[in-house]
Amino acid sequence: MTLMTKIIETKDFLAAKGVIAPEFGLILGSGLGELAEEVDNAIVIDYADIPNWGKSTVVGHAGKLVYGDLAGRKVLALQGRFHFYEGNSLDVVTFPVRVMKALGCEGVLVTNAAGGISYGPGTLMAITDHINMTGNNPLIGENLDDFGPRFPDMSDAYTATYREKAHEVAEKMSIKLEDGVYMGLTGPTYETPAEIRAFKVLGADAVGMSTVPEVIVAAHSGLKVLGISAITNFAAGFQSELNHEEVVEVTQQIKEDFKGLVKAILSEL
Ligand code: HPA
Repeated sequence: MTLMTKIIETKDFLAAKGVIAPEFGLILGSGLGELAEEVDNAIVIDYADIPNWGKSTVVGHAGKLVYGDLAGRKVLALQGRFHFYEGNSLDVVTFPVRVMKALGCEGVLVTNAAGGISYGPGTLMAITDHINMTGNNPLIGENLDDFGPRFPDMSDAYTATYREKAHEVAEKMSIKLEDGVYMGLTGPTYETPAEIRAFKVLGADAVGMSTVPEVIVAAHSGLKVLGISAITNFAAGFQSELNHEEVVEVTQQIKEDFKGLVKAILSEL
């Protein structure tokens, strides 16, 4: 089956379940999936039941699609994303974004937990731009002309108007929201201290193992993007030890700010 056929099959499956005309797609990273529990009039579908969908295997990722009303908007929220390091192809990693586009979303809000180079644990960072350090690209292969061009411009992958709105809202709520460049790597190893020193020189403010493939596919198809990183730890070399438990724990601490901020942003977009 071609990728296009799969996209259409999955879109039709979701539409038949009542997933109609979502306005925004929410991709909720490690520990941030709780926001989906606040969706009203929710239609909840297990990933395992969705055709052509990947499997979510990471602690802190629930593996459910939740459609419904959040902050007055129709959202399609993903509790748990697919990572390249889980052995998924980039087609699988980015498939939900394609389906969001096919279902008619205007924009996607992509969130992640990230290691901080310029910022410390507990910081929320609006992504201004990214550096693709995965050595790969989800658009390699036949171009889906119905979605976008062969050589897409990535200058405005992170939509300035969305980010400005996010800052306005954060200020009103007295939530600190920084700006920064996200560097995406494959993982699953955390970086070495030498890598982090190098990445700092290259212009990275935060590092993580997701988001870049999804945003490339979103930008290709003309979806607007707001990216928010929850900085959960200092990147390697700035602190003694890195572990996933800590990432989840710090995310727990900032999730209330995160949830409040995202809902307020959604109501304003
Ligand atoms: N590096 C990469 N990914 C991450 C980190 C990190 O330090 N923290 C959370 N996700």
